[in-house]
Amino acid sequence: MKIYQYFLSLIFLLSCKAWKSSVSAFYFDLDNYTSVVDASELVAQGLMDYYNGLDYGETIGMFTAPYYWWEAGAAWTCMLDYWFILQNDTYNTLINQSLLYQTGEYNNYIPLNQSTTEGNDDQAFWGIAAMTAAERNFTNPPDDEPQWLYLAQAVFNTMALRWDNTTCGGGLRWQIFAWNNGYDYKNSVANGALFHLSARLARYTANNSYVDWSVKVYDWMKSIGLINETWWFVYDGANINGTECETPEYLQWTYNQGLVLAGCAYLYNYTNETLWYNRTMKFLEGSSVFFNSTTGVMYEAACQGAGSCNTDQRSFKSSFARFLGLTAQLVPETSDRILSWLNISAYNVAQSCTGGTDGHTCGLNWFNIGWDGYYGLGEQMSALEVVLNTQILHRPAPYTAFDGGSSKGNGSAGTESHPTNLSPLTIDRGDKAGAGIITAVVGISLIAAGVFFF
Ligand SMILES: *[C@@H]1O[C@H](CO)[C@@H](O)[C@H](O)[C@H]1NC(C)=O
Ligand SMILES: *[C@@H]1O[C@H](CO)[C@@H](O)[C@H](O)[C@H]1NC(C)=O
Ligand SMILES: *[C@@H]1O[C@H](CO)[C@@H](O)[C@H](O)[C@H]1NC(C)=O
Ligand SMILES: *[C@@H]1O[C@H](CO)[C@@H](O)[C@H](O)[C@H]1NC(C)=O
Ligand SMILES: *[C@@H]1O[C@H](CO)[C@@H](O)[C@H](O)[C@H]1NC(C)=O
Ligand SMILES: *[C@@H]1O[C@H](CO)[C@@H](O)[C@H](O)[C@H]1NC(C)=O
Ligand SMILES: *[C@@H]1O[C@H](CO)[C@@H](O)[C@H](O)[C@H]1NC(C)=O
Ligand SMILES: *[C@@H]1O[C@H](CO)[C@@H](O)[C@H](O)[C@H]1NC(C)=O
Ligand SMILES: *[C@@H]1O[C@H](CO)[C@@H](O)[C@H](O)[C@H]1NC(C)=O
Ligand SMILES: *[C@@H]1O[C@H](CO)[C@@H](O)[C@H](O)[C@H]1NC(C)=O
Ligand SMILES: *[C@@H]1O[C@H](CO)[C@@H](O)[C@H](O)[C@H]1NC(C)=O
Ligand SMILES: *[C@@H]1O[C@H](CO)[C@@H](O)[C@H](O)[C@H]1NC(C)=O
Repeated sequence: MKIYQYFLSLIFLLSCKAWKSSVSAFYFDLDNYTSVVDASELVAQGLMDYYNGLDYGETIGMFTAPYYWWEAGAAWTCMLDYWFILQNDTYNTLINQSLLYQTGEYNNYIPLNQSTTEGNDDQAFWGIAAMTAAERNFTNPPDDEPQWLYLAQAVFNTMALRWDNTTCGGGLRWQIFAWNNGYDYKNSVANGALFHLSARLARYTANNSYVDWSVKVYDWMKSIGLINETWWFVYDGANINGTECETPEYLQWTYNQGLVLAGCAYLYNYTNETLWYNRTMKFLEGSSVFFNSTTGVMYEAACQGAGSCNTDQRSFKSSFARFLGLTAQLVPETSDRILSWLNISAYNVAQSCTGGTDGHTCGLNWFNIGWDGYYGLGEQMSALEVVLNTQILHRPAPYTAFDGGSSKGNGSAGTESHPTNLSPLTIDRGDKAGAGIITAVVGISLIAAGVFFF
């Protein structure tokens, strides 16, 4: 925590004490569905308090600073889950408007505003939001506009075109553009998300070329040690420069484990192959590293104990909880284990979400210590997904094009018109003008930043 955040939370704590008698207690009992619904509504409202995209001067679909664009994509996926799991459409207009406003000029979730800083992982998280909308049969855009499936396919296609076998024998770089930090890093969130998205597209469309892509990404991640089949862990990433991805960075994040775990579950559900069943069960075992070994409560092991989780990292547990819920639906043999983890964690979330002036702000650490003083979009998202997913088995599994999904797509989405690929590796004449503008914009903002500093 920054010093000012510390004082803010101190003020919160003090005011909380003063307010204690006047706010309704945040409480729920997992055996009482009404109380789970009431609690989820409070947490969801707390999440939406961070959204001001409709205010003057703000941008539709974006959350207030310091939340980056990618996290907005993940947050709208939480709100899709809120709608689908609780069957409450209060926020559907906002979800629909946001998912469509941010598609970008080429309907591939690279809006011009983000294009100078956007990474493969950022694009993927909006692609996953669109995929979720397709699989949950969220009302489609009009017939003459790109639909959810199309948008997810466009994200997949443009990412796949960036596959780079000139270094490390393959893989996606973290960043799309050479001027961004992380362009020399090939990581699990970019590649794991490509694996995950293609697994979901395979199952939804029954097109086996997506399975081939999943296999290719998985095998590559395994080949450089990002996927470790001794421990069934997913490590953070590997540097290209000098070392050719020889040694992974051994950090582990919940959302990376979840991307790969759920990807395997989708592939097993679609292919019915024992290989993917075995991998699902093994990654499930590996996932236990993110649950406190005595209490079974979920935590972000790499940063939570040290108190060093940054803004992004505080939201990772939300994606993890969602991926666990999907896995429980798709591979029923995992559901006892997963629901036990989610139920224990949700029980502890309840005592954490008792902070702030409203009395139901959620914290970061759920280890039965009450509200820990942390607050933010990521904390609300994570708490919401854990509580919602305790109910996941009462709802239908993700639909496919053959059993309830109605979204229309196109196998070459995002590649038919242009730009086919924003990667500088294959920039074409048409794109060069765009790249020139982007460089100019970056130049100007560097100068602006220089003026600011001096
Ligand atoms: C279930 O929870 C609701 C909302 O918190 C509460 O009003 C109701 O009394 C609870 N029912 C039981 C049987 O405890
Ligand atoms: C739906 O959610 C909103 C916002 O959380 C809440 O105010 C409303 O009461 C909910 N509706 C139902 C029917 O539960
Ligand atoms: C979603 O937005 C599109 C485009 O703005 C609109 O045509 C459609 O009616 C909206 N759908 C819903 C369910 O709000
Ligand atoms: C791009 O940024 C401008 C200026 O902030 C804003 O008005 C516009 O709505 C943004 N567009 C998108 C798609 O984010
Ligand atoms: C890299 O990929 C391209 C296109 O798929 C292929 O033609 C080429 O043989 C590959 N190179 C290596 C070293 O694998
Ligand atoms: C798996 O990870 C461990 C360290 O966590 C390492 O010792 C081992 O070599 C890795 N296995 C592979 C195949 O990379
Ligand atoms: C990595 O290598 C490329 C090409 O050799 C170079 O342009 C870049 O500056 C290097 N990056 C780092 C962090 O060393
Ligand atoms: C899936 O495989 C199992 C055996 O591994 C078999 O019993 C089952 O019938 C298969 N289901 C389908 C839909 O092919
Ligand atoms: C799956 O695991 C079972 C039990 O450990 C093993 O017998 C089988 O060979 C494995 N199958 C594959 C394809 O990995
Ligand atoms: C796929 O998921 C559905 C829905 O949960 C389930 O009924 C089915 O048994 C799963 N298929 C396999 C092969 O596990
Ligand atoms: C597990 O939870 C206990 C009880 O809350 C706590 O004391 C311990 O530090 C936790 N372990 C880890 C590794 O965080
Ligand atoms: C999906 O949406 C379409 C169009 O609204 C509808 O016809 C279909 O019944 C829906 N599927 C399910 C499973 O609800």
